[in-house]
Amino acid sequence: MIIYKKISAIREKLGTLRHKGNVGFVPTMGALHEGHIQLLRTARNENPFSVVSIFVNPAQFNDPGDFQKYPVTLEKDIEKLAREGCDILFLPDQEEIYPGGITPAPPYDLGMLDHILEGKFRPGHFQGVCRVVDRLLEVVEPDFLYLGQKDYQQCMVIRRLLEITGRKTVLQICDTVREQDGLAMSSRNMRLSPLQRSAAPEIYRVLQYLQEHLQAGHLASLRNYANVELTRNGFRVDYVEFANADSLELINSWNGREPLVALVAAFIGEVRLIDNKVLQP
Ligand code: PAJ
Repeated sequence: MIIYKKISAIREKLGTLRHKGNVGFVPTMGALHEGHIQLLRTARNENPFSVVSIFVNPAQFNDPGDFQKYPVTLEKDIEKLAREGCDILFLPDQEEIYPGGITPAPPYDLGMLDHILEGKFRPGHFQGVCRVVDRLLEVVEPDFLYLGQKDYQQCMVIRRLLEITGRKTVLQICDTVREQDGLAMSSRNMRLSPLQRSAAPEIYRVLQYLQEHLQAGHLASLRNYANVELTRNGFRVDYVEFANADSLELINSWNGREPLVALVAAFIGEVRLIDNKVLQP
């Protein structure tokens, strides 16, 4: 694995590889776990060349405290990536990504995606995500981009980013990787105390309950059940919502046919967890 810190250097290298085959790209913020590694494995299976980036992007943290506390495990990350056969690690510093600092920039037109769910509870978050992903795509120019379904709305936002910027990169969305007890893997999980960690799988249990009890008609009672159960287990719920799985339009009453996804965001202590499940009719 070759590590590049400078845009000019990684661009030069990719320039020599591109005509030999496709490039698959996995952007991350580090503190790598099995969810990230699965994305890399898929990218490697589907492309002769794989690129992973690690950059903790200050522009997407609406809460500065969350940015300060974001876990950094760089040595271990490098070991894991090398062991998995990653070809190139892009490890830029802030000056490389945001020369001259994070100055105001024209917003990306994300439509309602910017204002619902994560967009509502983390104002500016997706603008920051788009800014860094746009920059990373400009540098890496991958044929395929690998994102995790764990961040469902982020996938929809990046799909829109690719549309509005007209990039040829193809988005591949990969399944959420979970711990044995169902907790979706996340870099934030390492901040959970043992007690919080034992309560955390409740989110997935609730999502499964929603699947098992799904019926056409009003979804309010299911949403209510989820809110009550999460609160009873010590969570502070930001939202439990149902949405059209393609457009992410929120749905209160389901016609029994349209594709549906349930999405949850909740705090346990100071740690904010998100998860989702695509529901089968
Ligand atoms: P990060 O949280 O590090 O996640 C990097 C990628 O890993 C994202 O596509 C995310 O959806 C995926 N991922 C995280 N946990 C996963 C899991 N349990 N199963 C499957 N995939 C999982 O998401 C970001 O970083 C940033 O917003 C980024 C896109 C890098 C822009 O800064």
